[in-house]
Amino acid sequence: MDKQSSHILVVSNRGPFSFSVRDGEPHAVRGSGGLVTAISAIARQREILWISCALSKGDREWLHLMGEGVHNLGDMSIRLVQPDAGQYHDYYNVISNPLLWFVQHQLHDTPRLPIIDESTWQAWSGGYAAINRQLAEAVAESIQSLEGQILVLPQDYHLYLLPRFLRELVGDRVIIQPFLHIPWPSADAWRVLPLAMRHELIDAMLHADRIGFQTERDTRRFLQTCVDVLPDVRVIKPWRSVAYKGREIDAVPYPISIDVDYLEERCDSPEVQQHLDLLKNQYAGRKLILRVDRVEPSKNILRGFIAFQNFLLVHPEYRGHVDMLALLVPSRTEVSEYRRYLRELMALVGEINATLSDGEWEPIRVLLGNNYDRAIAAFALYDVLLINPLADGMNLVAKEGAVLNRKDGVVILSEEAGVAEGFGDAALLVSPYDVYGTREAIRQALDMPDAEKHERAAKLREHVRKNDIHYWFRCQLEDAEKQWSGG
Ligand code: G6P
Repeated sequence: MDKQSSHILVVSNRGPFSFSVRDGEPHAVRGSGGLVTAISAIARQREILWISCALSKGDREWLHLMGEGVHNLGDMSIRLVQPDAGQYHDYYNVISNPLLWFVQHQLHDTPRLPIIDESTWQAWSGGYAAINRQLAEAVAESIQSLEGQILVLPQDYHLYLLPRFLRELVGDRVIIQPFLHIPWPSADAWRVLPLAMRHELIDAMLHADRIGFQTERDTRRFLQTCVDVLPDVRVIKPWRSVAYKGREIDAVPYPISIDVDYLEERCDSPEVQQHLDLLKNQYAGRKLILRVDRVEPSKNILRGFIAFQNFLLVHPEYRGHVDMLALLVPSRTEVSEYRRYLRELMALVGEINATLSDGEWEPIRVLLGNNYDRAIAAFALYDVLLINPLADGMNLVAKEGAVLNRKDGVVILSEEAGVAEGFGDAALLVSPYDVYGTREAIRQALDMPDAEKHERAAKLREHVRKNDIHYWFRCQLEDAEKQWSGG
């Protein structure tokens, strides 16, 4: 893509920075989530305008001080949109999380939840649709003075309606290419949502040119959902393209990855080395089972703890010789399901430690908070990395662990994480519901001969290095370029 005549706009709910104003001075701290890491890596090579919502009080203060419009921040240009607080609440806390997130990770306990009542419908049109429209308008305004090719990349489940609004505003001037970071479930799972809502959602998405998913499996399930929901959808290429309202839309897997060079450099930093020394001391002479997650029901943290508890009960000889360290980042605490999940998992850890500790050694240690340097240090040190989500778009923790670990550590991986499609049986695959199988995988990992560990770890590392974040982005760009050149 020619830098002069082509423009890339990323649109997402959460932007790449958290902002604040201190003593009248603007501050920006780069976030450490997967998406931010991914796009920041690309911004070092390409010009990118990133449009997102002002989320926190700090963001709003920064916006007030700096003014609306485009700001240059390091490698990229940023534009913050200020949503109305009530609309934003409905869009984020009622529709995106928990409704869409829970449908897509199949977390609903359907005899009880969700209940879609009048207030949900109001949140759908007055919140979710309104914010999607507002972001589409910000994109349309930002491209007004641009010439040449324009590629718009809406990110994730917060923005399903944006392609339609944007198409209505700017027509075919832009290529719209959303990417979904979270899993796309089967057509039947979507039937939790009323038909009219499903209809509006899929119809809006099919105003895009091409939709990116994490896995082949997601892609196939999306296309099935389109056929299920919209009678006018026609399959043109099986498992790849559909025709709808005179357009052809592709569904393509682009498994997201990590910026390997950046991470390795950061791993050598004094900050990470300090954490590393500390952790080495704390876990000297014992094996370390690590998990790193947002506090998130789909991460299946409870069953992971129960599997470890079972392991220690069945194999008491390991007590005092193995530790589980859980680095957990509190998340979406305005949503009651998330608050409850945090309470439940802290209670369970308390119970396990109370019954199994020997006065000095404690089986599970939970560290709450967002400390990326500490997580990087822990990746280098683990003997076993436990990743057992019920459903997960990709799970970048698995990829970060695979490249940063220095001990030929074993990855125990849920078959429901998108990354399982690429890792295959170089990891120890488990069913996330199978606590017995997970317990056995822990034993297998801890007892594994060095040669086998080495071979598996090398395979994982090689896979991530080959399929890094640059490759993820290049594939999306190449497909857009083919369209520009009429291919
Ligand atoms: C997942 C989603 C992202 C989201 C992130 C953090 O990875 O795919 O879109 O930004 O979780 O969630 P939050 O609600 O805090 O932005």
